[in-house]
Amino acid sequence: MSTQVKIKIILGSTRQNRFSDKPGAWIFEETKKKEGVDAELLDLRDYPLPFFDEPMSPAMIKDGAYPNEATKKWALKISEADAFIMVTPEYNHGTSGVLKNALDSVYTEWNNKPIGFVSYGGVGGARAVEQLRLVAIELQMAPIRSAVHIMGGPWNLLDDNGKLKDGALEPFQQSAEGMLDQLMWWARALKTAREQ
Ligand SMILES: Cc1cc2nc3c(=O)[nH]c(=O)nc-3n(C[C@H](O)[C@H](O)[C@H](O)COP(=O)(O)O)c2cc1C
Repeated sequence: MSTQVKIKIILGSTRQNRFSDKPGAWIFEETKKKEGVDAELLDLRDYPLPFFDEPMSPAMIKDGAYPNEATKKWALKISEADAFIMVTPEYNHGTSGVLKNALDSVYTEWNNKPIGFVSYGGVGGARAVEQLRLVAIELQMAPIRSAVHIMGGPWNLLDDNGKLKDGALEPFQQSAEGMLDQLMWWARALKTAREQ
């Protein structure tokens, strides 16, 4: 089957000196290598969403009629996708506030689409991903089983200049392959189902 799928990769950190952009750039390149994929890297710095404080849940909003321009722009971008990869840090055993806020800010645009994870931290960000899977289910998404857990702590993967050490992400190549294959299977299956 050769249906083209749109995969949006979302960087889960916007802070200064963040690590997120390094695994984000890496998984973006790996995703682009896959046949039949149209990949895009989304940086939440380019989508500065207000901290959610609307009177109504996004689940009640119809046809992208969100109350502010920043959220409308975000919703439109998310609506384009057939699948997502979240590149998440682990902050106090959960995901980052900025990523959770981006998830909370829109609703129907996430629905019926698969989501995979690239995470990092002392235990590979595993605890943040487990929480994100529960959040994804409530957003009517399909969180996939395979994930890339970059183990050992980001601080060990950088050189003295804050650059990724050569080959630092090579050990995670195989898990990236597995995650991408599974994500694409679900992306095609759910794209077909949404179109019916
Ligand atoms: C507020 C905060 C909480 C953190 N909590 C954890 C944690 O629970 N587990 C962990 O492995 N690392 C934790 N860290 C360390 C992060 O893994 C590390 O700072 C990482 O670089 C954060 O991702 P970012 O640079 O992309 O923002 C924490 C860092 C911050 C700033």
